[in-house]
Formats: sequence, structure tokens, C-alpha cells
Amino acid sequence: MIDSLHLKQNRLACLSKQKKLGQEIDCKNSANIADTLEHMPVHSILKNDNRFIKNHLENQLDNERPEIRFYKSRLQARATFFQTHFPGKLSYAVKANSAECVLKTLNEFGLSHYDVASLVEMRQVHSINPDAILHYHNPIRSRTEITAAYQLYNCRRFVVDSLSEFQKLHDTLSGCDGFSPPNIQLAVRFAMPKHEDSVQDFSKKFGADLHEAEAILKLARTMDYVLGITFHVGSQCLSPEAYEKHITACHKISSRAEVELSFINVGGGFPALYQSTEYEDIKSNEDQLINFFHTIRQVKQRFFNTGVKFECEPGRALIAPAFSLLTTIKTVREENRELYLNDGIYGGLMEAYQFKDLTPIYRFIGEASENPMISCDSRCAEDEWTIYGPTCDPCDVLPLPMRLPSFIHEGDKIEFLGVGAYSLATSTRFNGYGDLKLIECE
Ligand SMILES: Cc1ncc(COP(=O)(O)O)c(C=O)c1O
Repeated sequence: MIDSLHLKQNRLACLSKQKKLGQEIDCKNSANIADTLEHMPVHSILKNDNRFIKNHLENQLDNERPEIRFYKSRLQARATFFQTHFPGKLSYAVKANSAECVLKTLNEFGLSHYDVASLVEMRQVHSINPDAILHYHNPIRSRTEITAAYQLYNCRRFVVDSLSEFQKLHDTLSGCDGFSPPNIQLAVRFAMPKHEDSVQDFSKKFGADLHEAEAILKLARTMDYVLGITFHVGSQCLSPEAYEKHITACHKISSRAEVELSFINVGGGFPALYQSTEYEDIKSNEDQLINFFHTIRQVKQRFFNTGVKFECEPGRALIAPAFSLLTTIKTVREENRELYLNDGIYGGLMEAYQFKDLTPIYRFIGEASENPMISCDSRCAEDEWTIYGPTCDPCDVLPLPMRLPSFIHEGDKIEFLGVGAYSLATSTRFNGYGDLKLIECE
């Protein structure tokens, strides 16, 4: 509510501006004042230091924030897709995107299993569904973290990738209330060299070699743990063959260790749609995923009986299609074909900087152009533009130029599509930017 004093001040401010701008404006009510201010350049109202103007500016600045849009139905569709076609249980790697709206949607969908990397992620899932089944699949944990996971969040699945970490886990759990190895699922993580078709290498930081994995299983069997094997083929893996090799290795490791496995968790790594992928739309991305599932089903049937339950825990391929990032062009340097956006690699586009192959697809929306309906993607665009983010760091630039129309105006928009994975989750507030506005859409 604007009190009468403020209204008076605003009328005066408005009248003086009316004179300056030579406008015919009726300032009798606040709606008109707001309308007037709406159409004034920000610099012309900055001098008027009152609450109304401050509020107005705050609103305007809020409107200028980059928007990260969550499409609930797209996540539901992807979860249904995985659940229908993957030959086993679906879990979700929370690290890819732990926004509350994501976790709530998955919970409503009925998802009960979550791969969590930390106590914070456990708390996030637990606050939405205290009965959710948590898989602590980060092999690096302090003793306190192990105890808290067990005692506070009822976590009964732990991963290990070395004999020493297994010893640490066992010692720590032995001090916990009611601990008994048959109630604990132990997932032994092994690693093979990165497949050439995976974008990210997950084989160096984590994972026992095949011999150590065998040794852990042998020892754990003598202690009566419930046993399984897990691996990660590398994120955005484009070849089903990588899963075939790893599942075949699971067979080798468990046969040599002479243990009966209860489960095999094939991790994440499934591919989503990016500029670099051969397929161009969600449908062909899903056709490709069906090939992956087909390979997994075949190799599962070749080596394992029905007693061995298969699981997957995608992050990227499950959540990527559910989000888009709407950015606004702040500055156009036409002579150099350079654009400055209101978000960049320190915000929602971090992955594009780390790995060129994870540069998202996009569309241009000519909001400020003569024809506000112009909307096109790289296929209909004529020119190559260099794209900078809003911070003062010269590194804040997309590694690949973007094909966009030749005439671009300040205020036009670029929407990056399929950016649900590792965008909100890794966004920083460097230079005070990166404050993405989360919009929930159906
Ligand atoms: C243990 C584990 N599982 C699953 C995932 C999800 O992988 P992606 O996003 O490639 O599906 C990750 C990613 O870091 C991971 O570390």
C-alpha cells in the first residue's frame, strides 16, 4: 500500500518527469504512476529516492534475472520412460539437481530410491520422504558422516572402493546401534579405463581395480554383508558397449571371488541431448536410450540369474530434459559479433565451459526486435556470435560460437534447452551474478 505522502511525492516526481519527457500522462493514481515508471529508463528515475521507486527498481531487477524453468511433466515423462524400459530398479542421482521441486515431483511419482553423495542430500530427500531408501554411493566419507547416515537417516547401503575404506566403514558401523552386517548392503565400486565415447572420465578418482574389488567381496562375504557391485561408465556416455564391458567385468569379479551378488548397480552415465549429439530431439534421444537398455538386458541375461537385481541411478539423462535456461542479451557488440548475456559459465552454463560436448542446444527469441515472434535455432541462423557471460572474468565465455540471426538487439533472449543436469547444482554467485530465478511450469 502506498500511503498518501508517498502518493503525493510520486505525483510530484511524475509531473516533473512528465515535463522533462514531454509525455501526456495522467498521474492521478498509483497504477498510472507505475505505468509511467515502467516506461521510463531506469537512469531517469534513479534520482528519486523513495520507497515506491525502490520497489519498482527491485521489481525491474528481479524481472531481469535469468530464469531457470522447471517443466514438471517432462520429468514425469522421463521417469516413466526409465521405469518402463530399464530392466531393473530406477534410482535418482540427487547431485545432478537437488531442487525441492525436483525431489517433490519424483516423490509424487513414487520414486523410492535415491543415490546421495552427502548428508545434506540425505536431509533434502529425507525432509520430503522420511521412508526414502538412500544409497550412500560416495566412497569418500568421514567416520562421523558414516555414523550420521546410519543413525539419522537410516541409510543401509554404502559403497566402498578400497580395502582400507571398507575397514573404516566396518569399524565405524560396528559402533552404531543395532548394527549387523546382514542388514547392510555393500556396493563394491570398480573402475575400468574411460570408454572413448564417454564425455567425462569417472575411472580415475574412484573405483577399485578388478583385483581389489574381488578382494573386498571375498572379505565382506566372510562377514555376512549383503553384496553388490557398482560402476560408473563416465557421464554422457554415447556407447552401450561401455555398459556391456562393465557388466561383463562384474561377472568376472564375482565369479573369481565366488560370491553371490544381490544386486548390480550400473550407475548413471546415460546420455541426454546436447549440441554435440547426433540425435536432434528427445524422441531420438529416447530411441538411443532404448538401445542402451536392450544391451544391458541382454548381457544381464547372459551372465546373471534373476536373483541378481539390476539398478540404475541416472542423474543427467533423467533430469536434463526437464529444465531450460532463459537468458537475456544485455549488450550487443555488433562490429565484433559479440553478445553479453545475463548468465554464463559461473551460473547455469558451467558444464559447457568444462566440456564443449556438453554445450546445450538453444533457441533465439527476438523479443526486442521489430518482429517479436522471431524464434529460431542454430539451423535457421546465419551468423556466428561469441557469447560472454555477465561477470568480469574473461574466462566467462562459451567455448563454441553460437549461430544466431545477423540482427540482434539488446533485450532479445536466448533459451538454452535441456539444462536440468548440473546447472542449478553447480551455479555460483561469482561477481554477484548466477542468481537464477526458478520458475515452476507444468
Ligand atoms: C555414484 C554416481 N552415480 C550416478 C551419477 C550420475 O551420473 P550421470 O549424471 O552421468 O547420470 C554420478 C555422477 O556423478 C555418480 O557419482
